[in-house]
Amino acid sequence: MLRTAILAAARTPTVERLITNASVARSLVARYVAGDEVADAVRVSQELIADGLAVTLDQLGEDTEDEAGAAATTEAYCGLLDALAHAGLAPPAEVSVKLSAVGQRLDPKLATENARKICQAAAAVGTTVTLDMEDHTTTDLTLDTLSTLRVDYPSTGAVLQAYLRRTETDCRELAHAGSRVRLCKGAYAEPESVGFENALDVDRSYVRCLNVLMAGEGYPMIATHDPRLVAIGEERARWYDRTPDTFEFQMLYGVRSDEQRRLARDGYTVRIYLPYGRDWYPYLMRRLAERPAYVALFARSLVSS
Ligand code: FDA
Repeated sequence: MLRTAILAAARTPTVERLITNASVARSLVARYVAGDEVADAVRVSQELIADGLAVTLDQLGEDTEDEAGAAATTEAYCGLLDALAHAGLAPPAEVSVKLSAVGQRLDPKLATENARKICQAAAAVGTTVTLDMEDHTTTDLTLDTLSTLRVDYPSTGAVLQAYLRRTETDCRELAHAGSRVRLCKGAYAEPESVGFENALDVDRSYVRCLNVLMAGEGYPMIATHDPRLVAIGEERARWYDRTPDTFEFQMLYGVRSDEQRRLARDGYTVRIYLPYGRDWYPYLMRRLAERPAYVALFARSLVSS
């Protein structure tokens, strides 16, 4: 219930105004976001890479409403890739792109062409792109874009969400050689007709999907902080004789940092999802929805500020 309410607030302009102007939000944002500028993204990437981690960078922003905004986001990603290359960080840095930020709601073809420009810029500096997955109404469109982009850029990564009932089938289709697939639980509010409501059902689905990906021939990217699922990921890697260059763990910047470093020390590839930019509101709300314990604290600080 609380999760659904927070995710609904993520799309409510009055709540957005209240929260983005609150100083308490700024301090929470600092936990999850590198900073406002490309320079912040590069600096934090450098620190993470020095600690033995890889990164995937997200220029914050979604649901772009006009072509100019979509073009600006595309340019921003190309600029980011140049800056990463200039700093000698691309690779191991790659980028994660939300298709809604590059125009998917206006015209899926426009979003595909903008994403292609980002793939081109990534390939030019020797790295790649992963397409984030948004709510279920966009899943088919995003997978269509993925297959179009993979013709020329086969390393383009997909994201699949274990909370969707369809995902085990999607995993089977994408578990082929060369296919990079990030498996996460899913961060949006979805109706029961398409998604599992119960946390245990989501976890069970995650394990079924993980089994398909780890048994397959692709490159699974195990994106979770859940200690049980991380342990199952490690166990499946041993079972399927997967060496550290054939799969990776992924976690969000600011979440379970000690575990990120523990996995890296144990020889696993660990990639940190690192957002930056000023448009942090929906991202912060999804992080709050995952951590209801913060919400009471956050609400109290809002009232007293
Ligand atoms: P779960 O939410 O059960 O958390 C397990 C434990 O992790 C918690 O008990 C807590 O200790 C810690 N934790 C989790 N979230 C936290 C938070 N916000 N703050 C503090 N502690 C927290 N989703 C999506 O729909 N589309 C996408 O493209 C992506 N992309 C993506 C990339 C990467 C690299 C990651 C790690 C995650 C995503 N996600 C995503 C988000 C994902 O769907 C999911 O919402 C979060 O990862 C939380 O789920 P967990 O698997 O961590 O489990």
